[in-house]
Amino acid sequence: MLAFQPTQSLRLCVHLVAKLTTRPTTGDGGERLRATTPLLNRPLHRRQSGYSTLLVPGDQRVVTALRVAGDPRPCATNHRLLSTMSSKAYVQPLVESTSVFKDGLFNGKVLFCTGGGSGICKEMTRAMMRHGANVAIVGRKFDRLVQSAEDLSKDTGRECLPVQADVRQPKALQEAVAKTIDKFGRIDFVICGAAGNFLAPISGLSENAFRTVIEIDTLGTYHTIKATLPHVRKTKGSYIHVSATLHYKGTPYQVHVSAAKAAVDATSAVLAVEEGPNGIRSNVIAPGPIGGTEGMDRLGTKGVDGDQRIPAGRFGDKRDIANTAVFLFSDAASFITGQVIVVDGGAEHLRTTQLPYPQSVLNPASVQELIRPRL
Ligand SMILES: NC(=O)c1ccc[n+]([C@@H]2O[C@H](COP(=O)([O-])OP(=O)(O)OC[C@H]3O[C@@H](n4cnc5c(N)ncnc54)[C@H](OP(=O)(O)O)[C@@H]3O)[C@@H](O)[C@H]2O)c1
Repeated sequence: MLAFQPTQSLRLCVHLVAKLTTRPTTGDGGERLRATTPLLNRPLHRRQSGYSTLLVPGDQRVVTALRVAGDPRPCATNHRLLSTMSSKAYVQPLVESTSVFKDGLFNGKVLFCTGGGSGICKEMTRAMMRHGANVAIVGRKFDRLVQSAEDLSKDTGRECLPVQADVRQPKALQEAVAKTIDKFGRIDFVICGAAGNFLAPISGLSENAFRTVIEIDTLGTYHTIKATLPHVRKTKGSYIHVSATLHYKGTPYQVHVSAAKAAVDATSAVLAVEEGPNGIRSNVIAPGPIGGTEGMDRLGTKGVDGDQRIPAGRFGDKRDIANTAVFLFSDAASFITGQVIVVDGGAEHLRTTQLPYPQSVLNPASVQELIRPRL
């Protein structure tokens, strides 16, 4: 029996478990581990290739894991997110960076991007390439990196070097940097984007699971900075660290990521201060929920219209983060360093009120009967 009430978080767990079990296993060499949880009394599959795992309180077993690398199938949640994005946005439509910034902005420049083989960081890489940069993308799954590099080069006409490395290993990152220098001769920009995430409450989170996220997000960022800094000093370049907004408040089931990202934010600030006199800038982009990503695929809540909690009226798009990166790496941002740029459609500033949102601001008359007269 579970030892806690069926809160929304629990419902989220149930949803995630239920959704994930519908995905068939594949022959990618991943470990197939069957476990049964009293939560659903169903067999669950664990795949080594995914990094997300759900720990259920009262049942200390690791009960599930995630999507297999390279599995191209979109998930239902993402379909839902993307469809709501286009129909309900209150702000101006999203545009490609090339319609705002000039094409050759980063001609002759080189970007080194951890996590660039997928998701948000791949889209940031694509935008940088569209503006002329050549890039090295770093991750553990070499096949996916190669595929992404081909896709990005074909799309942009720029060079993309896939480099296999685990950001937890300082030596592997030094070798990845050496390969980048061999290929391109310089590094101007660095994106520290590699990260791991999964849902687990403190009571069900093992020390090892906590450590793993700290090692990927925080130590991975540190190792990336250490390996690239000598080269970035030569070009008076710039860093972007991909963080989150989870740690600004107490986000349930996210203690590991919250701790890791808080440390990333602090690391970036110190880097900005220490290396500013060497001509280096360092900033953080903190995305809100971004549709069409593995992160949202795993952590999003089915049946909850999360976009109604976002003042801009839609979930973020990977290109929202890419556009921000283009601006921050450009000389237009030359006086911006040591900052955290939150890109979340205003969600961070929304407090829960008694009044329905957004109806209360879109149509005040519709909620008049809910408002008590002044005393
Ligand atoms: N999605 C969101 O809504 C959201 C919101 C806030 C913040 N973020 C942040 O945005 C960034 C990208 O997230 P995403 O959602 O786009 O997820 P994603 O596609 O899963 O990106 C994570 C990347 O990190 C790489 N990675 C993980 N562990 C690694 C390791 N030990 N060594 C090297 N590379 C490693 C992965 O490649 P391999 O598996 O090949 O190693 C993958 O390319 C992350 O920093 C995340 O925390 C995302």
